[in-house]
Amino acid sequence: MKPNHLDDLQVRADRRIMHTYPPGKAAFVRGKGSVLFDAAGEPWLDLLCGLAVTSLGHAHPAVAHAVAEQAQTLVHTSNLYLTEPAIELGEALARILGWEDANVFLTQCGATANEAAIKLARKHGKQQADDKVRVVALEGSFHGRTLATLEATGQPAKHAPFEPLAGFVDHVPYDDADALRAAVTDQTCAVLLEPIQGEGGVRPVPDEVLLAARDACDQHDALLIFDEVQTGIGRTGPWFAFQETPVVPDVVTVAKALANGMPIGACMARGQATKVFQPGDHATTFGGNPVTCAAALAVLRTIEDEGLLTTARRRSERLRAGLEGLIGSSPFAVGVRGRGLLLGLELDAPVASDIEVACRSRRVLVNAVGPDVVRLAPPLTIERTEVDHAIATLEAALAEVASNADVPRT
Ligand SMILES: Cc1ncc(COP(=O)(O)O)c(C=O)c1O
Repeated sequence: MKPNHLDDLQVRADRRIMHTYPPGKAAFVRGKGSVLFDAAGEPWLDLLCGLAVTSLGHAHPAVAHAVAEQAQTLVHTSNLYLTEPAIELGEALARILGWEDANVFLTQCGATANEAAIKLARKHGKQQADDKVRVVALEGSFHGRTLATLEATGQPAKHAPFEPLAGFVDHVPYDDADALRAAVTDQTCAVLLEPIQGEGGVRPVPDEVLLAARDACDQHDALLIFDEVQTGIGRTGPWFAFQETPVVPDVVTVAKALANGMPIGACMARGQATKVFQPGDHATTFGGNPVTCAAALAVLRTIEDEGLLTTARRRSERLRAGLEGLIGSSPFAVGVRGRGLLLGLELDAPVASDIEVACRSRRVLVNAVGPDVVRLAPPLTIERTEVDHAIATLEAALAEVASNADVPRT
């Protein structure tokens, strides 16, 4: 290992990379399955998947092969011309959505998928009335960092440095069906929400709120948009989280895990939402890039061929049982929330960052997604022994933090 590989990289990053991120917590040179390796060759168990992205594990051979083969065949043409992988991906996404009439706009990431969805909804609204451009979103949500998606994000602290914003989004509490119903008016073109808030702390939105959103959208001819950027592609159990809720949205966005780490996003519509965009309304140079689409097709094929949604459900049961086992037997641990392999360990004190650090000192990656919740989003392919190692590490981390800390408990 180079001496202080992390420190060396940080010094260079500080000089040449814009300071949008806090200092790096570790540095890695390669990965395999659920494990990342640092420059010393030490293995780290990755229970976070690069923020719910590498769901098939690192360096998955099917994805690596698809990328290499497509890169040697055709990398880019622009959307002036047709290529097979983008169209095949549209067909595959329609199939897993289960929507006969689905169509898809391909982008590079979650924010650009949501940006497309917001523009689609605003055009849908304007076709009815000039002022029907408002969006209702939930407090605590996260939808991205472009200006429109930042505005939709229900976290005022993230708005502050960039205000004034355009002022077209109304936020309501994530668990208040009446407030949501009251916020939707004839000026509303869309309700936008994550079925489980990821960055907001792994908070499932109650079914009654989802039902109220569906109902209010139907009454006011607004579109219901589910941001499944984090929850999509098997992360919570089914292909899409909405498939285990009582509602069907008009538009779904996805990104993160779709191409296992290659940059991609998709805005997917059904029904009247499929007819809104016309040539010239929206575009992006890299949308439908053959290499990223080939990677996404490899991801979807692998999940289907290897039955990974079923495997992931089994691993989720084991992980959840392990986490629940910490409640009562370990300090701080008071609850588990989330679904599938997007789980949050609830704590009774604001020590999530300390737990993250204590896990990291044991070369296990988790993340404090709030002061009192630790997020786990391991690969769908995580091994049973790795789940057991995760639980043992968390147990040790909780004990260590309790022995060091004199923290007020809630
Ligand atoms: C639910 C959700 N929407 C949108 C985004 C933004 O995605 P990206 O960072 O790919 O732009 C994220 C990222 O964490 C997310 O979790």
